[in-house]
Amino acid sequence: MSAAVHTNEITVAVDDAQPASRGGFATRLGFILAAAGSAVGLGNIWKFPYITGVYGGGAFVLVYLGCILLIGLPLMYAELIIGRRGGKDVFGALRSLTEKQGVAGKLMSYATGFLSIASGFLILSFYAVVAGWAIHFFCVSLGVIPGATLGDKTVFAGVAGNAWLSSAWHTVFMLMTISVVMLGVHGGIERVCKILMPLLALILVGLLIYVGMTGGLNESLAFLFAPDFSKLTGEAVLEALGHAFFTLSLGMGAMITYGSYLKSEKHVVRDGVSVAILDTVIALTAGAVIFAVVFSMGGLDVLGKDKAGPGLVFQSLPLLFAQMPGGTIVAVLFFGLLIFAAWSSAVSLLEVVVAYLVDERGMNRTTAAWLMGWAIWAVGLASAWSMKVLGFLDDITTMYMLPLGGLLIAIAAGWMLSKKDRESGFSAFGNVGGALSKGWTFTIRYITPVLVAVVILAKVGLLKF
Ligand code: PHE
Repeated sequence: MSAAVHTNEITVAVDDAQPASRGGFATRLGFILAAAGSAVGLGNIWKFPYITGVYGGGAFVLVYLGCILLIGLPLMYAELIIGRRGGKDVFGALRSLTEKQGVAGKLMSYATGFLSIASGFLILSFYAVVAGWAIHFFCVSLGVIPGATLGDKTVFAGVAGNAWLSSAWHTVFMLMTISVVMLGVHGGIERVCKILMPLLALILVGLLIYVGMTGGLNESLAFLFAPDFSKLTGEAVLEALGHAFFTLSLGMGAMITYGSYLKSEKHVVRDGVSVAILDTVIALTAGAVIFAVVFSMGGLDVLGKDKAGPGLVFQSLPLLFAQMPGGTIVAVLFFGLLIFAAWSSAVSLLEVVVAYLVDERGMNRTTAAWLMGWAIWAVGLASAWSMKVLGFLDDITTMYMLPLGGLLIAIAAGWMLSKKDRESGFSAFGNVGGALSKGWTFTIRYITPVLVAVVILAKVGLLKF
């Protein structure tokens, strides 16, 4: 049964089926900032710039934008509507929405639920280690780490190659993440994201103005936006697709879980689009800033190909910051930005796992957050001790688990949900809504799953281009 609460400007449908104790987002802005907080993370500021560097710039960016449009956006709506209509964690939401499908529905909810929790768990385990390095660099920039300065080439090896130090920062970051999730969706996640996201935007704009004044921005923009298709390889296309999932937090139920805390589905479509736009704009701006720094100091060739990889942000940039006027302040701001972005993403990763224990197992939120937080921390130690493990976990989650999760979610949304559940988010658009929902249904049924399946098959070597 549903009741409606009327306030001055909005009508909010309140679902009686959802226990008040589950909590939820208090405002629409709070939800958008939390979802954008989940999307904007290390993926935007650490990963997007370096994979763009490795795959040669413009053409890769174009393919990536195509993936966001054809796969990211349709799936974003699919996840949000599943969460909102299902009103529970990934397992529970899918179970209740696919009930009529019998065994197939049950299987779908188990497979997707299991995969989502495994992905959230594994991603957070290595994500927290990388975020820990950002805290180290933040402290180095502030000058509070004895004997370490930004211009010193050995700082990165000094932390990434030092398992004890990496583990210590990893522990700090996990504690930051647990303490937010423990406080709940409104009291923790929403409140923190409402502060972090505007700060993040402010820092990014500040950095953009700075590189606009110090030079390199024109070359940087040319690098990002002038496509050179000769550099585009099959591998680059696969990477672009994997990254589209990662950067929008799709394929592992983060958006299903956040969607389940929405009070109404009225704005789901618009808000999903806003989140995707915010995420893309922030990735491109971060890329513009980082490459401007690189080009103002002599360009990618100066760095060498290996330095443009995962080490771009941690190995090359600090050295460049050290040589720039006002570089110390820029470095403090930059690493602060990285920590904020990672923090608001990490809480969404932990929330997927915690929501499962709270909704399905009836566990108290605080217990669930500590229990899972420490379990993830323990697994994360493996990444803190070995870069190989870190790279391996990054690869299997981004390239296989998230796309596979996305494929299952697309099939569930397109083929297993009732028409009413499927289309309810489009009702806010009046007449246009019908056409929009037809377009979306077609995409999520045919285009998204086929594209994702092709990429997965190519990745495992069953399809060759
Ligand atoms: N979207 C985040 C980023 O770009 C990572 C993430 C993936 C967060 C999946 C939640 C779920 O860094």
